Amino acid sequence: MITDLITKLYQDNNLSKDELVYLLENLDASSRKLLFEYSLKTKLQHYGKKVYMRGLIEFSNYCKQDCLYCGIRVSNKHIHRYRLTFDEILQCCTEGYQLGYRTFVLQSGEDYWYTEEKLVAIVEKIKELFPDAAVTLSIGERDQAVYQRLFEAGADRFLLRHETASRDLYEKLHPTMDFNNRRNSLKLLKEIGYQVGAGFMVGLPHQTSADLAEDLLFLKDLNPDMIGIGPFIPHSETPLGDVIGGTLEDTLVMVALARLMLPSALLPSTTALGTLDDKGREQAILAGANVVMPNLSPTKVRPLYELYENKICTGDEPAHCRGCIEGRINSTGMEVDMGRGDSLQFQHKV
Ligand code: SAM
Ligand code: FES
Repeated sequence: MITDLITKLYQDNNLSKDELVYLLENLDASSRKLLFEYSLKTKLQHYGKKVYMRGLIEFSNYCKQDCLYCGIRVSNKHIHRYRLTFDEILQCCTEGYQLGYRTFVLQSGEDYWYTEEKLVAIVEKIKELFPDAAVTLSIGERDQAVYQRLFEAGADRFLLRHETASRDLYEKLHPTMDFNNRRNSLKLLKEIGYQVGAGFMVGLPHQTSADLAEDLLFLKDLNPDMIGIGPFIPHSETPLGDVIGGTLEDTLVMVALARLMLPSALLPSTTALGTLDDKGREQAILAGANVVMPNLSPTKVRPLYELYENKICTGDEPAHCRGCIEGRINSTGMEVDMGRGDSLQFQHKV
């Protein structure tokens, strides 16, 4: 029964909620192996052996939101806050460009110190200096008009995880945020023309198989270009500090299922997976992931962008990360691609 379901998912790229729940609750070692075989095969059919590199710049750890799981939440008074200047951000891009990166991901907490004008100026300057590079923003929720103006300034992509498709769970974890607004923002970003990334955490407290099935069905319906899936990892300075987080195995299963549900999506092998297990990122690549996001932030600020504890690579220079990741990708039999790496959906549109 379970192998029939996995084969059906491989052939149809879809399952019902009941089927997904059944699958999640009945996977064993051999069916999991079959699932990973199919998800890798699907990745290879759509993207070949390519794994795309993105240079990540964590430009501010200020955040006005108070997500219960997040180490940079506004209520955490025990971290040192930082903001990179305009010049520091450009310096990260210059170094990244010289290392071969052609996508820069600018990520921060929800920090309104970076006004629309400041953000527009940063995006315009990056596009002026590096016209063949893509700019991805991951800065949280803003008004539609701001999203529009940043797109017009040249931003190509936007990452905004939906975090969980369960309204109940979302509302418990995000006391300062609105479930409908989060989902609506994703739709707006798509309508504006961004390549959009949604995604969720695995192993959140009280998260059920039905919730995870809903995550996959929400993604199937939204049809984003990118899907970020990572384990929830507790941070001691948050209300969820004592909770048990997500496992490597459960996260890999969700990556594989996402690959099969949305074959043409770009799926990052997340740093959080590398934090759980030294070989976590390699395993995600073998389960169907095809993007990695090495860090380009200055090493002095890296330990401060602490969403969860024991984050890897915080002391490593960008050139070191570049080489390290390349070695890891090659060890899986895949190949690094330093190009812009647009999603297949997007390539078919232009
Ligand atoms: N502020 C932006 C936003 O809300 O989209 C981007 C930054 S936010 C910190 C990036 C992602 O980190 C979130 O979407 C969340 O899924 C993830 N994250 C936060 N805390 C985490 C934790 N404790 N474990 C794993 N992932 C976490
Ligand atoms: Fe800032 Fe969650 S507390 S994104």
